[in-house]
Amino acid sequence: MDEILGIDIGGSGIKGAPVNITTGNFTQERFRIPTPVPSKPDLVASVVAEIAKHFNWSGSIGCGFPAVIRHGVAYTAANVHRSWIGTHAENVFSKSCQCPVTVINDADAAGLAEQVFGVGRNYPKGVVLMLTIGTGIGSAIFVDGILLPNTEFGHLKIRGKDAEIRASDATRQRKKLAWDEWAERLNEYLQTMESLIWPDVIVLGGGVSKDFDRFSPFLNVRADVVPAQLLNNAGIVGAALAAARYGAGK
Ligand code: BGC
Repeated sequence: MDEILGIDIGGSGIKGAPVNITTGNFTQERFRIPTPVPSKPDLVASVVAEIAKHFNWSGSIGCGFPAVIRHGVAYTAANVHRSWIGTHAENVFSKSCQCPVTVINDADAAGLAEQVFGVGRNYPKGVVLMLTIGTGIGSAIFVDGILLPNTEFGHLKIRGKDAEIRASDATRQRKKLAWDEWAERLNEYLQTMESLIWPDVIVLGGGVSKDFDRFSPFLNVRADVVPAQLLNNAGIVGAALAAARYGAGK
């Protein structure tokens, strides 16, 4: 059995579990540690190492990280400490864990998991836009199942502001918006996205996917809009898949 430790680095928590990459199931219970404040590289790296140690891990690790990641390096830092920009995240984590670590954008990881083990299986052909709606808004695009990495559609400007500032789940909670009020913001964002990339299906993931029935009646877009199926495990499963597919030596 091929097992890889998947780790999802988020704005509030860092979660990990060993994943069977053939079935997409966890082989041990998930372990979570709050994200350190400030979320600087050395502090985050020690938490990632603590998670690896918790599982007594010595094999490959895949990490989802909330930034643009090209060839292991972070290029943005919207919801983590800005000192990540220019940091070789793969090297930093590989050193702290003493294991080979592959780093991928967190939304790309979640999208990959949905595509392989979740709702994306119903859409092997065509254009799938996956959005993870949480502290920010992450995006992943698949064309016939192939990922176009590092799309940053959460930063599309709507009414002069980043879409994630208007329509994230964090904003819904902070402003105490009712579902219909928040859905109006989300709808405007989805309609704008649709006018630019015309996806066949839009998969909504992140914390709000469990409340899909509360806001979906207020959405009016041409594409099929469906909730993600893997809920909050997608980031971990996808990170492990990324290490299997794109990791060192692949
Ligand atoms: C970041 C993305 C990330 C998303 C979800 C955004 O602010 O720019 O890279 O995927 O948040 O965490």
